[in-house]
Amino acid sequence: MAESKSYKLEKILISKEEIDRRAAEIGRLISEDLAGETVLVVGILKGAFLWMGNVIQHITIPVKIDFMAVSSYGAATKSSGVVRILKDLDSAIEGQNVIVVEDIVDSGVTLAYLKESLLGRGPKSLRICTLLDKPEGRRTEIQADYTGFTVGDAFIVGYGLDVDQQFRNLPYITSVSAG
Ligand code: IMP
Ligand code: MG
Repeated sequence: MAESKSYKLEKILISKEEIDRRAAEIGRLISEDLAGETVLVVGILKGAFLWMGNVIQHITIPVKIDFMAVSSYGAATKSSGVVRILKDLDSAIEGQNVIVVEDIVDSGVTLAYLKESLLGRGPKSLRICTLLDKPEGRRTEIQADYTGFTVGDAFIVGYGLDVDQQFRNLPYITSVSAG
């Protein structure tokens, strides 16, 4: 039923236990790096929702959350860096410590755009946390401050990531191929 459109899930790449362990480590790191401060965690919908939910449970400094949704126009515009904000933040971020949480950094175009846009709003600090990094796809200089896992060139689903809106609910990360 979940595999109604024909995609074939391959073997598990990263288990739920590994994700949980890494989320705890990164939550602890963020709390240390921003000790004595408050942090605004901005999740990028939809893909980051589970990872963000996991990481914030391990942050021990005061946390506020907000969300953005963005869309790039597909392959042709990837290189041109055109990204559209579908849902913006509810509040201003001026003077705040912001951590943007992404599902995966591939070309880096989405994050480069987001970073520039958010830096223009005058946060006190801006950091990036991503569940996955796919360095082989990179077309920009951008790098996350906190990376869950580095993956190869395969198309990845699960733990928030989708193909055609499917498989976001999987509690693990796996690669997928056309069935
Ligand atoms: P970028 O702008 O090329 O870095 O693309 C980032 C966005 O592309 C992510 O937020 C994902 O939504 C999507 N994406 C890139 N690679 C994958 C993948 O392997 N699986 C699922 N989504 C992906
Ligand atoms: Mg997506």
